[in-house]
Amino acid sequence: MKDLEVTGLTKAYGATAVLRGIDLTIEGGELVAVLGPSGSGKTTLLRVIAGFERADEGSVRVHGVSVDDADTFVPAERRHVGYVPQEGSLFPHLSVAENVGFGLARRDRRGPRVNDLLALVGLADLGRRYPHELSGGQQQRVALARGLAIDPRLVLLDEPFGSLDAGLRAALRADVRRVLREAGASAVLVTHDQDEALSLADRVALIRDGRIAQCDTPERLYAHPATPELARQFGEVNLLAGTARGDRVTTALGELEAAAPVSPGPVQVLVRSEQIRLGASGGAPAEVLDTEFYGHDAVVRLRCAVEGDPCLLARVANPASLPGRGERVTVGVEGPVVAWARDAREGAPQTRPA
Ligand SMILES: Nc1ncnc2c1ncn2[C@@H]1O[C@H](COP(=O)(O)OP(=O)(O)OP(=O)(O)O)[C@@H](O)[C@H]1O
Ligand SMILES: [Mg+2]
Repeated sequence: MKDLEVTGLTKAYGATAVLRGIDLTIEGGELVAVLGPSGSGKTTLLRVIAGFERADEGSVRVHGVSVDDADTFVPAERRHVGYVPQEGSLFPHLSVAENVGFGLARRDRRGPRVNDLLALVGLADLGRRYPHELSGGQQQRVALARGLAIDPRLVLLDEPFGSLDAGLRAALRADVRRVLREAGASAVLVTHDQDEALSLADRVALIRDGRIAQCDTPERLYAHPATPELARQFGEVNLLAGTARGDRVTTALGELEAAAPVSPGPVQVLVRSEQIRLGASGGAPAEVLDTEFYGHDAVVRLRCAVEGDPCLLARVANPASLPGRGERVTVGVEGPVVAWARDAREGAPQTRPA
């Protein structure tokens, strides 16, 4: 059964249209990340699903039951949806255990449920502490335990790792995945961290202009972005002009293989930075503008000495022998590329899914 079905959801605050027709479906046990720029309506979407705001139009169904449509509005406490708000959400005057048990019936607040939840998030011994006596990561875990307290099948997480440093984020990310699996819950996780979305989610929904511009598995979003603008969401991109014929596109970097058939004619071609090979025999001539060293890899900025003098970004996996600034190299492209018809409206996918 579908744990969540959002259909044609619109929501405005006064004259400001925030959501303009959101469609989003979540199957049982799925974790879907919602990714979008600040102010794009991610929190608003979660608040409508949770029942803290009412949709202007459209509908929300949770576990097959309509909770928000033209005739229905089920209040938040009767939706059985777990909600972990964006930040600073713990009650400062309540202990950790009291925070976790807040949404439970009075008789359950002192029962084993709270301790089980604290154990689940790795805080078994900290129930008596107060929020100000916890680290940021521990506070996030308490908020997560509180969101799970009612044993929801659907959990909404709004940037649950927002204020944490990289190491703690990674650790807590793995914990959240485990905790959700153990609880058998589906989740909508809002983030603006692209690595988090790709590594954690079963599917990723990209919000643009109040709509879901693309919703797909991480692998497909990366390999088949619907538009050049969406391609920029993940990693460095090089966009080149080209001409398509059949499954080949001709560009300044040579004739490349298209990842999916594209209609013949002028195209925009996406070459990921990790597809650029330096020192390729028969490659296009280029000059190194500068380099950025990251340890595990490096980014090399180049200017190609071909028509249009395009600048390119190359991600080099073995940065031990980086070329120096001003050095002349050759560049080639490895693997298939995504191409979009150039006269196409932005938003209309031109590549056909493989
Ligand atoms: N209660 C409100 N009244 C009026 N406008 C609001 C209200 N809540 C949000 N907005 C506006 O709606 C838009 C979307 O806000 P929202 O909080 O959903 O964005 P977001 O995607 O969660 O952003 P962020 O990544 O910064 O958390 C913003 O322009 C915001 O100013
Ligand atoms: Mg937000």
